Amino acid sequence: MSILFHLVFFIWVLLTVRCFVGLGSVSASASSSWCQHHHFFPQPNRQFQQKTDRFWVFKEQTNSWVELELPYDLVSCVNDNCTVVASIDPTNKKEEVLETQAEDVPRLRESSKKKVDGYDQEEVTGDVLPMRKRVSLTKMTDASIWVTGQSGSIYERFWNGVQWVIAPHDLPISGAHAVSVFLFNHTILALSEAGILYQMQLSESSQPVWVEFTATLGQSTDEEGEQSSVILIKSGVVSYDGERAYFCTKNGTLLELREIEPPRWVNHGQPPGANVAAIADAASIRTHVIYTISSAGDLYEYDRGSKPSWKKHIWREGTAQDASLMPLTGSTLYGLSGDHSISLFLLTKGGKLVERRLNQRKWKWIVHGSPKDQHLTSITPVLLQDDGHEKLFSLFLTTSTGFVFEYQILKQSGIAQENQSPEVWVGHMHPVHAKVARGIAGIQIQVGRILFPLDDARLAELHLSGLGGESLGPSHQVMFRRKATVKYVWSILDAPETEGWNAEYCTEQRGPTNCITGTKDELNDLGISRTGTRRRKGSHSQQLYLTPRAMGSGLTKHLEVYNFPDDWINSNFHLRVMHGGKSFFLITDGGFTFEYLYTENVWIWLRHEHSTAIEGAVGNYNGSLYVVDTYGSLFMRERSADELAWINCTSSRKGRQVVGGPPWDTIPGRAMKGAIEDDALFFVSRNGRLLQFTVALRKFKWKDCQNPPNTKVASILDQELFREKIVFVIGSNGRLYQYNKVTELWHEHYQSQHLVLSRLPGTAMRPSLLSLTGSLFMLSVDGGLVEYHWNSMDGWNWVEHGTPNKAVTLVGAPGPSLEGNQLFLIGSNGNVYLRYMDQMTWRWKNCGFPFLGNSIAEDQTQKEGNTEKENVCTDEDLAASSRKEDSERADYLSSDCNPEVAPIRPILFAQDSVIFELRDGRLGEIRRIEGTGWVWSRIIGTPTSLCTASYWTALAS
Ligand SMILES: *[C@@H]1O[C@H](CO)[C@@H](O)[C@H](O)[C@H]1NC(C)=O
Ligand SMILES: *[C@@H]1O[C@H](CO)[C@@H](O)[C@H](O)[C@H]1NC(C)=O
Ligand SMILES: *[C@@H]1O[C@H](CO)[C@@H](O)[C@H](O)[C@H]1NC(C)=O
Ligand SMILES: *[C@@H]1O[C@H](CO)[C@@H](O)[C@H](O)[C@H]1NC(C)=O
Repeated sequence: MSILFHLVFFIWVLLTVRCFVGLGSVSASASSSWCQHHHFFPQPNRQFQQKTDRFWVFKEQTNSWVELELPYDLVSCVNDNCTVVASIDPTNKKEEVLETQAEDVPRLRESSKKKVDGYDQEEVTGDVLPMRKRVSLTKMTDASIWVTGQSGSIYERFWNGVQWVIAPHDLPISGAHAVSVFLFNHTILALSEAGILYQMQLSESSQPVWVEFTATLGQSTDEEGEQSSVILIKSGVVSYDGERAYFCTKNGTLLELREIEPPRWVNHGQPPGANVAAIADAASIRTHVIYTISSAGDLYEYDRGSKPSWKKHIWREGTAQDASLMPLTGSTLYGLSGDHSISLFLLTKGGKLVERRLNQRKWKWIVHGSPKDQHLTSITPVLLQDDGHEKLFSLFLTTSTGFVFEYQILKQSGIAQENQSPEVWVGHMHPVHAKVARGIAGIQIQVGRILFPLDDARLAELHLSGLGGESLGPSHQVMFRRKATVKYVWSILDAPETEGWNAEYCTEQRGPTNCITGTKDELNDLGISRTGTRRRKGSHSQQLYLTPRAMGSGLTKHLEVYNFPDDWINSNFHLRVMHGGKSFFLITDGGFTFEYLYTENVWIWLRHEHSTAIEGAVGNYNGSLYVVDTYGSLFMRERSADELAWINCTSSRKGRQVVGGPPWDTIPGRAMKGAIEDDALFFVSRNGRLLQFTVALRKFKWKDCQNPPNTKVASILDQELFREKIVFVIGSNGRLYQYNKVTELWHEHYQSQHLVLSRLPGTAMRPSLLSLTGSLFMLSVDGGLVEYHWNSMDGWNWVEHGTPNKAVTLVGAPGPSLEGNQLFLIGSNGNVYLRYMDQMTWRWKNCGFPFLGNSIAEDQTQKEGNTEKENVCTDEDLAASSRKEDSERADYLSSDCNPEVAPIRPILFAQDSVIFELRDGRLGEIRRIEGTGWVWSRIIGTPTSLCTASYWTALAS
């Protein structure tokens, strides 16, 4: 069903692809990726080999580690008299530069101390962000932006005439992570992290499919005697004129793709004594001339037609203690200093902006530096104004700490950094609660609108106030002159679930979410009001996802001292389904592990021996059961050959002691998905950290995901059932947090100070995998039901359901939930309550406990003063038979038997069956009967319950 819109997308892109007139250099650099691995070559004659250029210093004021900018002086202070005793230098420095360093350093440092107008210094320094290696943005047309996400997914943001919609274009092979996309001669290519190219083609059914497009050197090369072998590619750039694509191989050579049909590859090798780590410029300075950067940080020029074909651009000026370049694609701009001048802007490894300028046949280096204390990591060229006569450019640079600075290029200046006015750097900060991804260039989608990837895997648009954002399409070019009054603002744009976010893929339904046309139909009015809603949501959503702060409020600290009850593991992980409808596990209070199994037409209890006492069953993945023993060690019950074996997972590398796991193994009622490469189970460690245990393909790897900066993890509310890649947890402070598996970031969710959650696990409700709409259910500390609901119109919202009636609070973890409209809960009175949706209204139903006649429950209802009619879920026949059986009644009244429901998390055994534990240790099953609803159907005796009334019956039945 997605075939049709895929096809339409594809054709649409083909038809509308045009030359990138005017903004050619913008597109060329934006559609590229670059080789980020630095290879350093330490000087062999040094006594101490410094093997890294990255050092951090601990700043006491901010309580954080800050990366050093090299060179860094090590200072010794005696009575406030400080002297430099040594210095850490970049490892790749040339010897001759070392000699001149003494003079150059102070001057360069001075020049880097440019004022950042309006920003507090404390604010703009922060933690260095990780590299998001798979992220890239590529502009195909004004209406189509392709994104490779941190998860390795490919998705397209597409303006369908009414709104921006998202369409998936993932690589077909599981485990193939895309790192960039190219548009080359009307063909879309994708590059995987492994170094393989894929070409988008139309299949026989006219559906676009990715087909491997291997780079090989063989018959059609110029090189003699070259064997046909697969070449792995690291990054690439489409040339300025769009006629060639140049790639940097993993082996550090320059590769050219001349033609796609048939593929014609040319290997240009590498500069003498160096490699190709990135392509700085692909033929936009001079036709067929390629500029590359080696991993040592030198700029090379490659021209096939000249001899020698490789030339090195050296720093003659000698100003350059920081002359080693970052391997990235630069920005080429024309006419900045004279009509025929060409400027190639690059960054140094020290994070400074430099320019290689060609003017009147002479090359020159110019150092532009960086804002004070900032380490620049990517360049985005932006056309500010094009009124036909004049083009005005700025460079937008992202820093290592996630800020964006604008460098306003003064045309005709032709002067070096000494004379520059301090106002050239304009800080644009970053969106509230979200930093800009480090080292990834943004793209200009229109004049005044620039798209940046965020560190948290979403996107953000930096645009002129009122002239951009989620609700505005690629309309007619906005002509504007830069005035002081025009302000840039940030809008956050959501990413799809592959990245753990909430942008839904478009559907083929009629109406504004229809991604094929998205235009006029009878729902258009709704569409307009809806985009209005969306815009409100857009700004609202920034306050829903908060960055947890290390400094907690007084209240947080107060709540942090939360002691778990002794039976915490036990009451939440007593029962676990093994095979739906056929077998489940029961962990007894005495630490025994029993399996209730249906085999050869009888139900039997099977005891599983274990050397230590077991506390709870915390997971089930692919038929393997995960349990915790009293010492907190995690064990996996696994079938190897014919034998069942316990494997001690805590004893493996980085293993920990755990106190909890995911509450549910699948969304109740939905089939478990097949093993996926990065499948993992999440656990809570004894000291309140979230642990990731990779289980897919038997890799068995532990990872410490830590905890939110201001609290410990109390329990896992939901693991990836409500939102793939997201683990929702409840902090021991009673607040909701989430961990994103893709970005490894923690977020706090907006939550009223007055709402304190119980630390119990929760339940997710997501009726359809096609929609992200759904809810998380949890309890508040005072025993009320709390819902956290998401839908595409309103985003996240808290709903407090309260309790079934005044006399009853809810106890035990909520769940299971079914079909998006039913949720089971346990009352403090030992009754089971059903919260269900009836014609868009939530209602309560009292299901009592097993083997109770209607009369008793009705009495209770009246005592509780609830006037609303409650339907009691009791099977008439069973109730009648139990009333007849006086012995049953006697059992109920005897001390060993109490069929009230215990506050122990129940299990969804089958689609029409939920099993609860009773206060006497027996189990009660409630079943859904067609036409009648939920009724108690049987009591299952357990080997350890002292109430044996129905134990033997159960065995015999
Ligand atoms: C600081 O110490 C140096 C040598 O340790 C000395 O020469 C200098 O006079 C001292 N300066 C002050 C202000 O004490
Ligand atoms: C890449 O380099 C390795 C080791 O130097 C070599 O074995 C391999 O053949 C090279 N591959 C290509 C495609 O050049
Ligand atoms: C681009 O594609 C056209 C046909 O679609 C082909 O004729 C032309 O040779 C191609 N150019 C290059 C550089 O591959
Ligand atoms: C499991 O491994 C942990 C960590 O090595 C160890 O402390 C514990 O005793 C082991 N448990 C059993 C039952 O072997």
